[in-house]
Amino acid sequence: MREDTQLFDVVVIGAGPGGYVAAIRAAQLGLSVCCIDDFQIDGKPAPGGTCTNVGCVPSKALLVSSCLYETIEQKAIDHGIEVSKPTIDVGKMQARKNSVVRQTNDGLLYLFKKNKIAYLNGRGSFVFADDDGYMINVSEPSNSRLMTKNVIIATGSRPRKLPDVDFDEERILSNTGALSLTKVPKTLGIIGAGVIGLELGSVWKRLGSEVRILEAMPSLLGFADESVSKTAYKVFSSHGLQMEFGVRIDKVENDGKRVSVKYTDKEGKKLEMWVEKLIVSIGRVPYTESLEPANVGLKIDERGFIEINELCQTNLPGVWAIGDCVRGPMLAHKAQEEGRAVAERIAGQIALTNLDLVPSVIYTEPEIAWVGKTEQQLKNEGVSYKVGQFPFAANARARAVGEVTGFVKVISEQDTDNLLGVHIIGADAGELIGQACQAMAFGASAEDLGLICEPHPSFSEAIKEAALAVNKEAIDI
Ligand code: FAD
Ligand code: NAI
Repeated sequence: MREDTQLFDVVVIGAGPGGYVAAIRAAQLGLSVCCIDDFQIDGKPAPGGTCTNVGCVPSKALLVSSCLYETIEQKAIDHGIEVSKPTIDVGKMQARKNSVVRQTNDGLLYLFKKNKIAYLNGRGSFVFADDDGYMINVSEPSNSRLMTKNVIIATGSRPRKLPDVDFDEERILSNTGALSLTKVPKTLGIIGAGVIGLELGSVWKRLGSEVRILEAMPSLLGFADESVSKTAYKVFSSHGLQMEFGVRIDKVENDGKRVSVKYTDKEGKKLEMWVEKLIVSIGRVPYTESLEPANVGLKIDERGFIEINELCQTNLPGVWAIGDCVRGPMLAHKAQEEGRAVAERIAGQIALTNLDLVPSVIYTEPEIAWVGKTEQQLKNEGVSYKVGQFPFAANARARAVGEVTGFVKVISEQDTDNLLGVHIIGADAGELIGQACQAMAFGASAEDLGLICEPHPSFSEAIKEAALAVNKEAIDI
């Protein structure tokens, strides 16, 4: 072993939501921890991963700015507030977003320090394994060697490319470029009507872009409950998002000024779309190559995911993997739950996670959120169920706020009434879904949810009424 090799109980590779939670929890439990992360912004270490730097945090900052713009432009008038047409200073909007990101980076640096975690900026890779554990190299600027018996891999994911189409982040954009535009493009093309396509499409649409989305699947959000995706399609179309389904992308060309997308539509017609900017948001792939997994024989599957068991253990003793680089939904809160659980397991505790109760939220307007099973899934599994639905149009708070689109849908098991799924499309769905997560985590029935006294007037009452509607006891409809 080299003389300058540092020893730790746990080394975490990646400081995204999976890695930073794992590192902090392990340190809280009395272990000596090093967390390595390679992300930098403007030459400065930027812990927080995709989520903080080019994902959840900046996208939500831009969503709120663009929503405010749209509210002033289109909705203030309904309240008797007249303003001249608002203008948008994209530079200032981006500066605000960057400062939200920096505050989050700095918050994490503070937490690392407070918990006595050694944070090293650089790329971590396996060198070898022997009886003393795993030797890990950390590249510049840290340039260090570490030895440990416990490694938590939390290296996350990166955007999937279309074959032969590179991101230049100037005209052909991944999430990184799409979050950093300095001007509102006149025309914006998006390939993939998934979560990123809809969220970032909404941002630039609200600020004035003409947005066209090309999607390979035959309909919108096929993985959501069908009643939700049908409503979403109607609402987003009425907001002016142009969406085409069942397309095949044939060729993408960038002439330096515009991007041409040649595609075949669902009837087999050959078409071409010209846009100023193109976002390619067709999913993400695990990011594991830089670990040099072959040096220690770490098993990676054919799609690049690290192979793990239900406890997040890899094929190597003491090596664990969590978050986007392993199976399951690519969501920050899922990574965080796995990070907490793995740290506790390393410290000798029994820790549980439940992938069946990971909520999904799409921060469009209206928001979409759900937890548990969709009706389609239950039908396919042959499970008997009951459904209760309640529209926000019948909710007093929604009417007062002026956000009456959408509904809450509660699904419970036919015989036991146990909650199987809750699906919401409407204002604040992303906040409301937390109530359903709590109820389902405590094993509640629809009846239990309907018995909870909710404040009046509140959006929460729609959850109660939908739960009551399961057993035909709703009061307000
Ligand atoms: P990451 O956050 O990807 O972190 C991994 C870190 O490890 C990165 O900093 C990476 O650079 C670093 N790394 C990789 N390899 C090495 C190495 N060898 N050495 C050192 N460092 C390395 N999820 C939500 O739940 N809610 C949202 O609202 C949401 N919005 C999103 C919006 C966008 C535009 C995108 C792209 C994603 C969004 N996500 C959202 C998904 C979320 O960002 C990810 O699920 C989450 O970041 C995964 O966390 P992680 O810790 O597994 O990995
Ligand atoms: P996605 O999986 O949500 O959507 C990708 C879409 O692209 C799908 O509808 C897919 O059918 C389509 N597609 C795939 N290949 C295509 C092709 N060749 N041509 C046309 N369409 C094609 O992936 P997205 O939007 O890139 O986001 C990646 C991940 O990031 C999400 O799955 C999610 O896990 C995470 N995320 C989460 C957010 C949230 O929680 N609010 C926000 C943004 C991202």
